[in-house]
Amino acid sequence: MSQNIFDNSAPNAQLADPALNRKVDALVARMTIEEKVGQLVQFSAGEATGPSSGRQSDDAMIAAGQVGAFLNVANAKEANVLQHIAVEKSRLHIPLMFGFDVIHGYKTIFPVPLGMAATFDPNLVEASARMAATEASADGIRWVFSPMVDIARDARWGRIVEGSGESPYLGAAMARAYVRGYQGTSLSNPDSVAACVKHFAAYGAAIAGRDYNAIDMSDLTLRQVYLPPYHAAIEAGAATVMSSFNSLNSVPATADAYTLTQILRKEWHFDGFVVSDWGAIGELMAHGVALDSAVAAQKAVLAGLDMDMESGAYHSRLGNLVQSNAVPPAALDEAVRRVLRVKFALGLFDHPYVNEAAAAYTATPEKRALARNAAEESIVLLQNRAQEGQPRLLPISPRVKTIALIGPMADSQSEMLGSWTGNGNPADAITLRTALEQRMQGAGGHVLYAEGTKILTSSTEGFESAKQAAQQADITILALGEDGPTMTGEAASRAHLDLPGNQEQLLDTIAATGKPVVLVLFSGRPLVLDWAAAHVPAILEAWYPGIEAGPALVDLLFGDANPSGKLPVSFPRAVGQEPLYLSQLPTGRPADGVDLTHPPTNGEEKYVSRYIDVPNSPLYPFGYGLSYTQFSYSPVKLNVSSMAVDQLMSASGIGTQNSPIVASVTVRNTGTVAGTEVAQLYLRIRGASVEEPVRMLEGFQRVTLQPGESKQLRFPLGFQELSFINAKSQRVVEPAEYTVFIGGDSTTTDSAKFTVMP
Ligand code: BGC
Repeated sequence: MSQNIFDNSAPNAQLADPALNRKVDALVARMTIEEKVGQLVQFSAGEATGPSSGRQSDDAMIAAGQVGAFLNVANAKEANVLQHIAVEKSRLHIPLMFGFDVIHGYKTIFPVPLGMAATFDPNLVEASARMAATEASADGIRWVFSPMVDIARDARWGRIVEGSGESPYLGAAMARAYVRGYQGTSLSNPDSVAACVKHFAAYGAAIAGRDYNAIDMSDLTLRQVYLPPYHAAIEAGAATVMSSFNSLNSVPATADAYTLTQILRKEWHFDGFVVSDWGAIGELMAHGVALDSAVAAQKAVLAGLDMDMESGAYHSRLGNLVQSNAVPPAALDEAVRRVLRVKFALGLFDHPYVNEAAAAYTATPEKRALARNAAEESIVLLQNRAQEGQPRLLPISPRVKTIALIGPMADSQSEMLGSWTGNGNPADAITLRTALEQRMQGAGGHVLYAEGTKILTSSTEGFESAKQAAQQADITILALGEDGPTMTGEAASRAHLDLPGNQEQLLDTIAATGKPVVLVLFSGRPLVLDWAAAHVPAILEAWYPGIEAGPALVDLLFGDANPSGKLPVSFPRAVGQEPLYLSQLPTGRPADGVDLTHPPTNGEEKYVSRYIDVPNSPLYPFGYGLSYTQFSYSPVKLNVSSMAVDQLMSASGIGTQNSPIVASVTVRNTGTVAGTEVAQLYLRIRGASVEEPVRMLEGFQRVTLQPGESKQLRFPLGFQELSFINAKSQRVVEPAEYTVFIGGDSTTTDSAKFTVMP
């Protein structure tokens, strides 16, 4: 049975408000073509204003009503200067909108989004976005280019760091949380910012993980895997969308009427506006679908692209296109209406200016507490093996008096912030070295610090002093990783996924001293850690933890906090496994039960879907992460063993909460310290009209338990969880067999079954 579960004709009621729309219409009626075009133009302030750009100065353009929005204005004073020109000097006094890349904090920098996803804690994500909104709006920024909700399943793609990883379910949960946090209870609150869901659509699926590359995928996969997080953000009320750089099935997203109009407007009823990505309308020429910027502008606007970020094509061409009827005036008016709706909803007409006298930013204890909490929840304990005759290395024993701290990430404030650092100040970041020295001094111990090597070098100059430090210490902590700004994020795809430069050689050198080693890894993507996994007893994946990196890591290393982060992406054994992700489709020749750790020796082992030189499985699977305690799960219980499709639909409708199907387990902390577990529910659907993934995440809950404490968790399963996309691109529930797995990561085997009957 199919149903439009998102049958919500006004996902953002404020934008649909009739009174607001009357104001918009009245204003549009007074506008000249040039003024209308101006509302659809966004430039980066101060950039490209030279004579060759064809642009006048920002000030002159604003006064002439030729620009509707800026990006990269990030202080109150400058915002007010420009806004005064718009409001006082332009004929219709339409205020500007200032947008900025606020990705994981504005001044208080939180873990990178992939790290935030590892928290599996949407409430925390919402709180971080709220703080970012408050800080950004104090500088006049009422529009943030976030959340980035692109599903990413290929670790080679540098921008995997900017999103919530590989799972549509987790991605959708995080998308909603960001939007709620940014937009608050009403867009018109002075500390609310309009969210911009990006990059629409399917940007994360770039072929071979190479940034900006083309994408070719079925409509089923688009709708089942890639669209849900964008849709969740729209449903949560996101006021704007950014189109993506890529083409999808040979149509550049910037000029794709299927995604921008059919899906976004007709199916999802989106009332806000769409902005292009940077310069992307002009790039339609490089894509080869436009021979000049006039055709580029025409194709974009007709497809449903409302605002031109930085390409200048709307600014220079759109007016003529309308005058010559190559673009119908109604199409121009509609785009302008969408932009003005958001400006009205933000209250910019009533309160265009920002208070310059507001107190300057400081990273107050309150801000630091939230950033530290986020960092602690984001860090994933990948490995904590006991060595022969020794207890586990982590948490570090109070008996440890001398710690060698080695590596290029140990004392770099700027590295702790990762890529897209908003208006953050590296000086606010506390490094692992600073926090560790403080801690050890307080405990009468000390830290021997050696950089060892640079992030990317072949020089081994620093190895010897690092080795000496390790030899004199009880244990060594190695802080290694990728350079956040250049090796992760936009235009930072990698074909090799190992530690850059000679860092692995340094790790090998230090491990060879025989001293116990803890590896703390800073990366914006899964790395290939096979060597480290085999030779290093303890590994923490820290991502880029933000301003409270050091204190959070020290809390975790010493057990003052207990790791609870879980992987939002699969970690490969070899680059050749990429794209590697949990929710693969089945094959006719599954490798189940075949020993994949050695090359095939007979036909049974050979003619299955496998590699001959590496197991299919990830090194660390999706949802995985260790704790200093252990959790046990009772067998999965279901309240029903079968249900008719009709019965399911009439009882639950589209809502999950009313669902008549509930899976439950009891989780118990069986260890000796308190801890937080992320209990995860996975589904497998068999017997439907189309192949369904071997396993997909369809629920999770964080639960904090004292030693010995247990708690029953209930997971309602409604249409949203049980439905899937059929071959006709409809979201349906069909008669099928459902297997429900619940456990602490995606490899859990404990399960129960129910059947959906005709
Ligand atoms: C990126 C976007 C970003 C925009 C504005 C582009 O290069 O792809 O994510 O929001 O620049 O800075």
